[in-house]
Amino acid sequence: MKVPKQITFPQDFIWGAATAAYQIEGAWDVGGKGESIWDRFSQTPGKIADGSTGNVACDHHQRWEDDLDLMQSLNLGAYRFSISWPRILPAGRGAVNEAGLDFYDQLVDGLLARGIRPFVTLYHWDLPQVLEDEGGWPARPTAEVFVEFADVVSRRLGDRVKDWVTHNEPWCTAFLGHMFGVHAPGYQDAAKTAASVHHTLLSHGWAVPVLRQNSPGARVGIVLNPMEVVSTTQSEADLRAAALQDGLTNRLFLDPLYGRGYPSDVVEYVSSQNGVAFDFVEPGDMDAIAAPTDFLGINMYTRIVIDTKNGARDPFQSVIDDGKERTEMGWEVYPPSLYNLLCRLYFDYKPASLFITENGASYSDGPDAAGRVDDSRRQTYIRDHLAQARRAIDAGVPLAGYFVWSLMDNFEWSHGYSQRFGIVWVDYETQQRIPKDSAFWYRDAIANNGFALPDPS
Ligand code: FCB
Repeated sequence: MKVPKQITFPQDFIWGAATAAYQIEGAWDVGGKGESIWDRFSQTPGKIADGSTGNVACDHHQRWEDDLDLMQSLNLGAYRFSISWPRILPAGRGAVNEAGLDFYDQLVDGLLARGIRPFVTLYHWDLPQVLEDEGGWPARPTAEVFVEFADVVSRRLGDRVKDWVTHNEPWCTAFLGHMFGVHAPGYQDAAKTAASVHHTLLSHGWAVPVLRQNSPGARVGIVLNPMEVVSTTQSEADLRAAALQDGLTNRLFLDPLYGRGYPSDVVEYVSSQNGVAFDFVEPGDMDAIAAPTDFLGINMYTRIVIDTKNGARDPFQSVIDDGKERTEMGWEVYPPSLYNLLCRLYFDYKPASLFITENGASYSDGPDAAGRVDDSRRQTYIRDHLAQARRAIDAGVPLAGYFVWSLMDNFEWSHGYSQRFGIVWVDYETQQRIPKDSAFWYRDAIANNGFALPDPS
């Protein structure tokens, strides 16, 4: 007889869900908020696949109390959300918009009242437009102003928020925003990209002690989007390409954060290919970036498969039409990669602890006539990744928690509303929320601190 395997997590394992301000809040020009680079970018014709904006999004700015009740009904132990910088500092720096702080203040109180632990991300990509006009992340002063933002927010929330993330995926800020041009501010410029890598990391390092000071006993970390890189063959060309890809995606961020400086092969590549010198690095910067942290957060969705012969180097759509299982983003579904990644990150860099701060899948399954959303593919995706996370814990990785991306369908950046990652369906016409089957599965997994994995044979 086939017996399902029961997977159980450590007693203190944290089960959460994640969102980001621009993707759910709406209220883009309400309550004294300033303009962000994503307001500007999404309102520029041609930038977003479906022509949409985050102006309304999930209207969470008004519906936050109902959304908190929803989280509670799903047994969430933690909620990772981000703070809109221009809602707090409409001019990027200086005058504080108290109404903006009040919004997050009540959100934090509402979470705590429902027994949900707030995980705050300071920067999830919505830079004040005024700071972009002054040079944005390629300019060093932006790193200085980020510390002011971190200070203002943590002074207000630091007595209750004890888990802080400085940046979400600086790779995306730098590369998607400044190299590939698909995210705000939309440049295609290698020099701006390299400088953005440095200034986001530097701002992180500078903010760490400020957060610790304003939030006694807090755990402070950064969220990266590292990916396992594999090659289809062991040919010299494939192996070389894979090593470089690993450098650009992973080591460029991990090495400096863990005190190794920028990886020399990547620096050489960027200077020989793009003529970019790392001359923005000033004395003391690398020490600042390597400030000890309490955790490394990782957002994991897929892996990178290098196949130079078939010209496949794209980080996400590595080999198209290869028969692999993919989500609607085109991202390969390959759960064992999470185990490999967690082990590599921990045994190579030894972060004090790790969180999976995002993991999830885009599938557009919607409500049937009875209003039920059968999204079994998402449920399987989440279940199989959690099983790999458990394997990593068994191997000795101090993985402290898991956040599903996302609590609800939302504005998926350059894809607009055409990609749905939520465990809760959002009807954008009515703003109705409908928990999908994956949400009920997740609710029960949280209640049981684990789940049954069917016998694969
Ligand atoms: C991550 C982002 C998150 C969401 C998911 C799908 O890179 O951090 O905001 O867009 O991808």
